[in-house]
Amino acid sequence: MRRSLVSAILGRLAAGGGVTRRSSVIAIDGPAASGKSSTAQMVAEKLGFLHVDSGSLYRAATAAILRLEKDPSRWSEQSVLDAARPLELRAARTSFYPILEGRAIEEEIRGQEVTRNVSRVAQMPRVREWVNAKVREAAAAKNVVVDGRDMGTVVFPDADLKIFLVADSRERALRRLRQRGTPASEQLLDDETIRIKERDERDAKQTVPAPDAVTIDTTGLTQSEQVEQIVGLSMQRSR
Ligand code: DC
Repeated sequence: MRRSLVSAILGRLAAGGGVTRRSSVIAIDGPAASGKSSTAQMVAEKLGFLHVDSGSLYRAATAAILRLEKDPSRWSEQSVLDAARPLELRAARTSFYPILEGRAIEEEIRGQEVTRNVSRVAQMPRVREWVNAKVREAAAAKNVVVDGRDMGTVVFPDADLKIFLVADSRERALRRLRQRGTPASEQLLDDETIRIKERDERDAKQTVPAPDAVTIDTTGLTQSEQVEQIVGLSMQRSR
């Protein structure tokens, strides 16, 4: 009995990268435009948890280096880390969000220039360690729903619930166009589908489901159906 308790605690320490965690974590991973962030936000609101969008930190690091150097070929891992150092992840009512030089930078991190260059930054191992530490720090204090690519595999292998969201690439392209309020002509849909597939390729290495993740194909699901499924699974697990 005592031995299993000790090994459980040691396991948690190892899994959490040294941060002891008493809070709950729901990890939602999946490819670009699979609806992770909006779903994670709604699940967090339903459960009274806080949402952490790990992609927002890769985006914030990219925005920070872009402010200093516009030419990505001149970026080094160290220069990106130095630029990212002043970034904070601040808790609001329902989510954490990145702050740079005292200001929220939501609009900047969703812009085209950041989107074009963020995969390059996300390939840098020390930047990944920096993001992972920030996300774990947030989860050490609060119950969280975290979304990204490797939350269930690398960052929280001991998460209470792991979800991997997938959806057909054309469906994801359609959702992206709708999000932007762009009317979906066949041509635009084809172009966006190509862009999404390119991003899938760039991020493929870290976008892998954990062996114990529940995969949900959201192609034919509404947002609220996805949210209900995840909330339902989380209730079952906590019984
Ligand atoms: O989900 P998103 O588009 O906001 O992610 C931005 C970039 O960060 C994208 O290139 C994938 C990468 N990312 C990652 O590699 N690992 C994560 N946990 C989250 C995002």
